[in-house]
Amino acid sequence: MKILVTGGAGFIGSHIVEQLHTRAEVRVLDNLASGFRHNLDGLRCEFIAGSVLDRIVVRQAMANVDYVFHLAAMVSVPESVQQPERCAEINTRGTSLVLEEAARAGVKKLAFSSSAAIYGNSPVMPKVETMSPEPTSPYGATKLEGERLCEQFTLQGLLATVALRYFNVFGPRQNPRSQYAAAVPAFIERALRSEPLVIHGDGEQTRDFVPVQMVAAANIFLATESAATGVFNVAGGKAITINQLARQIQDLAGSASELQHGVERAGDVKHSCANIGRLRAAGFVWPDDFATRLRATVDFLRAK
Ligand SMILES: NC(=O)c1ccc[n+]([C@@H]2O[C@H](COP(=O)([O-])OP(=O)(O)OC[C@H]3O[C@@H](n4cnc5c(N)ncnc54)[C@H](O)[C@@H]3O)[C@@H](O)[C@H]2O)c1
Repeated sequence: MKILVTGGAGFIGSHIVEQLHTRAEVRVLDNLASGFRHNLDGLRCEFIAGSVLDRIVVRQAMANVDYVFHLAAMVSVPESVQQPERCAEINTRGTSLVLEEAARAGVKKLAFSSSAAIYGNSPVMPKVETMSPEPTSPYGATKLEGERLCEQFTLQGLLATVALRYFNVFGPRQNPRSQYAAAVPAFIERALRSEPLVIHGDGEQTRDFVPVQMVAAANIFLATESAATGVFNVAGGKAITINQLARQIQDLAGSASELQHGVERAGDVKHSCANIGRLRAAGFVWPDDFATRLRATVDFLRAK
């Protein structure tokens, strides 16, 4: 089996590579815009440095590939608010180019990385796949467009696809230093240094955190399960507030850091929690291991 992971040098992509590299031939296409070559250290894979916007490179990367995991994207909501056109270029045009080349190469199935951002600020909770999408940021809008492109390719019989709406992913190799660092690695890094944990807004916003290992396993499951198509929420199925998360990280890190509340971030949604019944009904099984995985993430960053 040969697989292609676009964005495979990134946080989530490198975990898909890690779960597959001993049982498949793995190729990674990544321009290292936000990923790192060292995320693939020790993993057996072919690395192609290039962009999903470069048709010639994408065509070469698709040669003899059975399954594609398409993760390459502009990944930050605030960055998409600042650069909406660039976001559409990478996320929408990039996805349509990858879909075209996958169909042309006779790929068996493509798994697209979508996002809970497509649900926007709708007060309905938990979020279920049948809800009407209301993205509030350019990032969310491009992920919705990506899902629609996948659906169209499948409906036209060109390519089997599945889209995964990730909620808040965390785990080893998530970058704590990026300008747009996610809450978990940013809090852990500051807690380990006894610096204040800076929370955007009042901290009562809720999020549904999901371990990256589960996200990688769900990708592999849904790509290789031929009956699975359409969109699937991928999440823990439980919400916690950012204040609760920060306190839990303080405890795990044994830190005396204080919580500091700042201004809300543009484009951020207030509440987010998933219904994961559809993923379960498809046959995907994963234990509730949030606490263990959070501890392991603290240990990973402590050891760095
Ligand atoms: N981390 C989360 O909580 C989360 C939540 C929802 C959705 N997602 C989606 O999951 C996917 C992976 O995100 P991540 O958290 O691993 O982020 P990441 O930044 O670590 O990974 C994205 C990868 O894509 C690469 N990339 C960017 N533009 C590219 C281009 N033009 N050509 C080739 N490679 C390119 C980057 O270098 C990086 O390695 C993204 O599609 C993201 O939108 C992530």
